[in-house]
Amino acid sequence: QAPEREQWSGQLGFLLSAIGSAVGLGNIWRFPGVAYENGGGAFLIPYLVALLTAGIPILLLDYSLGHRFRGSAPAAFRRLGRRFEALGWFQVAIAFVIATYYTVILVWAIRYVGFSVTQAWGSDPAGFFVGDFLQDAGPTLSTDVVGGIFWPMVAVWAVTLVVLALGVQRGLERANKVMLPLLVVLFTLLVVRALFLPGAVDGLDAFFTPSWSALADPGVWIAAYSQIFFSLSIGFGIMLTYSSYLRRRANLVPTSYVAAFANSSFEVLAGLGVFATLGFMAHQQGVAVGELEGISGVILSFVTFPQVISMMPAGPVFGILFFVSLTLAGFTSLISILQVVSAAFQEKFDLGRARGVGVVGGLCALISLALYSTTSGLAMLDTADKYANEVGVIGSAITMCLVVAYGARRLPELQAHLNWVSTARVGRWWRVLVGAVVPLALTLMLVTSLADLVTEPYGGYPWAFVNAVGWGVAGGALLAALALAALRWRRPVDDFAPEPV
Ligand code: PHE
Ligand code: NA
Repeated sequence: QAPEREQWSGQLGFLLSAIGSAVGLGNIWRFPGVAYENGGGAFLIPYLVALLTAGIPILLLDYSLGHRFRGSAPAAFRRLGRRFEALGWFQVAIAFVIATYYTVILVWAIRYVGFSVTQAWGSDPAGFFVGDFLQDAGPTLSTDVVGGIFWPMVAVWAVTLVVLALGVQRGLERANKVMLPLLVVLFTLLVVRALFLPGAVDGLDAFFTPSWSALADPGVWIAAYSQIFFSLSIGFGIMLTYSSYLRRRANLVPTSYVAAFANSSFEVLAGLGVFATLGFMAHQQGVAVGELEGISGVILSFVTFPQVISMMPAGPVFGILFFVSLTLAGFTSLISILQVVSAAFQEKFDLGRARGVGVVGGLCALISLALYSTTSGLAMLDTADKYANEVGVIGSAITMCLVVAYGARRLPELQAHLNWVSTARVGRWWRVLVGAVVPLALTLMLVTSLADLVTEPYGGYPWAFVNAVGWGVAGGALLAALALAALRWRRPVDDFAPEPV
């Protein structure tokens, strides 16, 4: 007999945790740069279109699958149709991969809280980050462990596994209830401070000035869809797993709107903060904002921001606000990714929560330490991230739409489920989007990125490295999924009847 399923304390606990998962590094370091490079103010149009035509529909698909079939990704997909279990395991495998490198970025952020106080980067933040701190040896498979990464990683893993072992309500929900409000407060303080810096207005100007011609560029639309997918944490089991812990009556449809709106609001907030800060930097250097480099991703956070902090009165305070925000945003996302993995193994192999977390979490921690605490961690992480997101997550999302709509033919049932449990209804539009519009848009995206990935080695790394890491991730996930799906369930999974709708 399967143990009783864990539950959130209520809708609010679920909502906060869902927002905690969505609001992550992507909001702070990815959105502002992507928006700026893809049309500035004009980017808001493709972004909104992507949110409405793909983001919210897939969020609802994730919610409805988890809530109706009351299981982790493998259990839910198996209950949808026995032969679909492997898709659930593929999602678990991708989550596993992402979890292994996500901790590393968290560790960087934590270390930089300290570095902000001492301004340890001196006058060369780029050299400090890559050289002194990461001791980067470039794209190799190095076994030289960097102590300043390794030990904090051990600590982050320990804390993460404790939170997971405490369970959905006492661990995940409690962590989110503390960290998410704190994140909002600290980050708002940072943005307000940034808005009063000299030059801030020029930054905002650069950010919002619309370049309408961007709308005719397919690349801009692809960037919008991919930002929405990444940012909402949809399409590979996270929201599916989280919604499986909701009570039978849970107002799914309005909740999805609130979660999506909250995530997007945080992105726009981050856009304001980041570009006000960049405006200040341009002002100090006497250049135009458009001439600045390093406005996105790892470089924005760990090179450009440190540089700005050095120029600023009370820079250390600003630095602490920024890096603590990154840490909080990252941690609440990390626990959601790992829950996908841990829930799946607990259910299939009938492990108690603590043992499940110990075994799978421990394995994940070991792999993470072995691969990313070394001097080749940066290049490995960069490549794994690219392939996991652009091939893994997008491939999984396309397959999920096709499986539900045409393999199992259960979209109408899921629509009825959503409408049965919610106060707001979804109409036929939802089926059209999930069954046609989203898979088409995502296939276009996937083909485009695959074409790029096979013509030029990602990041200018050597082919052998990119192929080993990138296709190792994607192919390894696929093989692991098939193998895990073939094993026997240790807990009852098939004698499950969803509620009549
Ligand atoms: N949604 C998170 C963000 O915007 C990122 C994330 C991706 C979280 C994948 C979990 C899994 O940063
Ligand atoms: Na996000």
